[in-house]
Amino acid sequence: GRVAVIYGGNSSERSVSLKSGAAVLGALSRAGVDAFGIDLYGEDGTEQPLVQLQRENFDRAFLILHGPVGEDGTLQGALDMLGKPYTGSGVAASAIGMDKLRTKLIWLGHNIPTPPFAVIEQGQDLAEVAERLKWPMIVKPAHEGSSIGMSKVSSQKELEAALGTAAEYDRTVIAESWMSGGEYTVAILDGQALPPIQLITDHAFYDFDAKYVANDTQYRFDLDLTSEQTDELKRLAEKAFSAVGCRGWGRVDAMRDECGNFQLLEVNTAPGMTDHSLVPMAAKEAGISFEELVVEILRTAG
Ligand code: DAL
Ligand code: MG
Repeated sequence: GRVAVIYGGNSSERSVSLKSGAAVLGALSRAGVDAFGIDLYGEDGTEQPLVQLQRENFDRAFLILHGPVGEDGTLQGALDMLGKPYTGSGVAASAIGMDKLRTKLIWLGHNIPTPPFAVIEQGQDLAEVAERLKWPMIVKPAHEGSSIGMSKVSSQKELEAALGTAAEYDRTVIAESWMSGGEYTVAILDGQALPPIQLITDHAFYDFDAKYVANDTQYRFDLDLTSEQTDELKRLAEKAFSAVGCRGWGRVDAMRDECGNFQLLEVNTAPGMTDHSLVPMAAKEAGISFEELVVEILRTAG
């Protein structure tokens, strides 16, 4: 049947999705799939997205929108109502995956380690938060991706500024203890972990610029881990993915604390597929080409 690659969206990650969408559409076409693109909330911007979805003629959808509406269960619910199968997680897992706070609460319920954190409310005693979480901390809007609105802070003054920045993006802001032992990401395909990648950046953390712009970010498959630790990371990522109820494909991000224990940060239910993105790199390391990867993701559409 005919496949709609749905991309774009109206979140702050729209520009990333335009790149992911173009890459996925190109690869599906090269693989001989009858695919076309739908830029949801597209440039002309006049058509109501639900009208746009109903007007287009397709049998299945490859969802490659990042951030709220496209990745958070909203679009997934609309497609459920239209009776169109789509790639990736369903409504509930997409909604939880887009919410870093609720992801953490679910993981804690499954004994999956995640860095200590605080939800920052109006009028909160920040000195008390600092005492518990220690410096440095990372401040995040709960429902963004690509590190948008995030800051790493080492003083109460920086914390106050960072809370203001994060609050521009989200009503819920969380502060998390910084994990000093390295950053890793694990792509998941069909519920199975692909080879983990270690991320090394000169930036204060793996921020938007380090993700998509800088050419000096290092992506290593030769990890600073033993093979037992690498296996542990893969099992933990698979467990974290299924604890949230995710389906098909995704990517779980992790760090190590100063004792060397893995601490999971978040799950991405529609991770980036740009030429700087991690899931395609991990697939390539596993001997899976970009074309094979998109065809396999499409196969899992339900
Ligand atoms: N949120 C971005 C697109 C990612 O996780 O790759
Ligand atoms: Mg994310």
